[in-house]
Amino acid sequence: MMHPHRHPFGDLSLCFLIATTLILIRAPTMHGAEDASYLNCSSPIQCGDLQNVSYPFLGLNRPSYCGLPEFELTCQDNTALINISNEDYRVLRIDGTSQMTVARNDYWKTFCPTNFKNTTQEITSPFSYTTDTVASNLTLYYGCQVIPTTITLTTIITSQFTCTNSGNIVTGYFLTKNVSDVASSSSVNFSAIVSYFGDCNTSVVLAANQSAIQEIESSPSSTTLVSAIDEGFGLTWTVDTKCSGCLASGGQCGRDNSTGNFVCYCPDKPYSSACPGMSIYPRLTSNKSI
Ligand SMILES: *[C@@H]1O[C@H](CO)[C@@H](O)[C@H](O)[C@H]1NC(C)=O
Ligand SMILES: *[C@@H]1O[C@H](CO)[C@@H](O)[C@H](O)[C@H]1NC(C)=O
Ligand SMILES: *[C@@H]1O[C@H](CO)[C@@H](O)[C@H](O)[C@H]1NC(C)=O
Ligand SMILES: *[C@@H]1O[C@H](CO)[C@@H](O)[C@H](O)[C@H]1NC(C)=O
Ligand SMILES: *[C@@H]1O[C@H](CO)[C@@H](O)[C@H](O)[C@H]1NC(C)=O
Ligand SMILES: *[C@@H]1O[C@H](CO)[C@@H](O)[C@H](O)[C@H]1NC(C)=O
Ligand SMILES: *[C@@H]1O[C@H](CO)[C@@H](O)[C@H](O)[C@H]1NC(C)=O
Ligand SMILES: *[C@@H]1O[C@H](CO)[C@@H](O)[C@H](O)[C@H]1NC(C)=O
Ligand SMILES: *[C@@H]1O[C@H](CO)[C@@H](O)[C@H](O)[C@H]1NC(C)=O
Ligand SMILES: *[C@@H]1O[C@H](CO)[C@@H](O)[C@H](O)[C@H]1NC(C)=O
Repeated sequence: MMHPHRHPFGDLSLCFLIATTLILIRAPTMHGAEDASYLNCSSPIQCGDLQNVSYPFLGLNRPSYCGLPEFELTCQDNTALINISNEDYRVLRIDGTSQMTVARNDYWKTFCPTNFKNTTQEITSPFSYTTDTVASNLTLYYGCQVIPTTITLTTIITSQFTCTNSGNIVTGYFLTKNVSDVASSSSVNFSAIVSYFGDCNTSVVLAANQSAIQEIESSPSSTTLVSAIDEGFGLTWTVDTKCSGCLASGGQCGRDNSTGNFVCYCPDKPYSSACPGMSIYPRLTSNKSI
């Protein structure tokens, strides 16, 4: 049996056809043939609280030619991660175009990681620490004998804690200073201090914000330790000087995949440093107003 009146989808599909035709006709005249690299590199990375992340970052929706390989981000559970010297760091904040705050992912909200491994804090080029980062003072020792308080009380600041590792209780200590420096300035037997901490199964050096280290020192506890780790530390880098000129000319900064050189992706095609805009793009705006 036929419906007494016309099926509403008949009208809808006619509308759709007209709209599609209009879009197809208008699109090329409105945008020209925009360069695919320009379009792809125009879209910033969004991951959780981290929004509007562009050059030199790449990864996710930004192909490799939109940034530098050291700045590849992944997004896990709304958290942006960056891999530096084979460690995953959470990107907590990006400030401007040349600084970010990161924190070790395996130490997020804990000082008992799932895998105990000896690590020293390692950062490689193009990254360097911000001036408020203390890279080598916060040291965590795991699998230690209980160290006599004659030692721990003099090696300011140190605190004992425990972790469980596959069912075993592991005794640990954290220090806010390099143990060698502490030992050399201490009145207690130098080699005794070094050998007590040297006997621990694992040692881990973590970078931290100077102000967070001072907070641990004024009130050493597992709470101040975890918040110091989770607050993260600053990394800085030097951004290609061509990038600001490229952006100002209406382009998107990127990197030539084969040469590794800086590229400025412009609406029509890539250029080596900036779009030859000035004369072309203002004309597009004046066309519109006619
Ligand atoms: C741009 O991104 C789209 C969608 O991710 C992809 O299909 C296309 O290949 C990219 N273009 C280029 C030139 O990489
Ligand atoms: C996103 O970043 C670009 C370039 O860094 C900037 O021009 C723009 O204002 C930012 N947008 C928002 C919404 O923050
Ligand atoms: C990143 O670092 C982790 C260590 O947390 C390592 O196991 C992994 O292989 C690295 N990933 C990449 C892509 O390099
Ligand atoms: C850490 O280094 C010490 C000394 O080199 C070594 O005895 C220990 O087995 C290492 N621990 C781990 C978990 O690799
Ligand atoms: C501690 O200091 C000694 C001597 O100054 C140095 O060799 C060592 O690398 C430092 N350790 C850390 C973890 O920075
Ligand atoms: C150090 O590690 C070994 C092997 O994992 C373990 O048998 C030993 O009990 C650990 N030492 C301490 C003090 O935890
Ligand atoms: C880091 O440790 C060194 C000595 O090991 C000390 O001179 C410096 O003041 C410490 N920095 C902070 C922020 O505690
Ligand atoms: C310092 O301690 C080491 C190891 O505990 C010991 O062998 C040495 O005799 C001590 N030296 C002094 C001067 O007490
Ligand atoms: C270090 O801590 C201070 C004080 O909380 C803060 O203003 C600064 O932004 C922090 N630095 C970094 C790199 O996060
Ligand atoms: C750029 O290089 C990477 C790695 O060599 C490759 O996966 C990617 O497809 C290349 N992209 C373009 C647009 O050539």
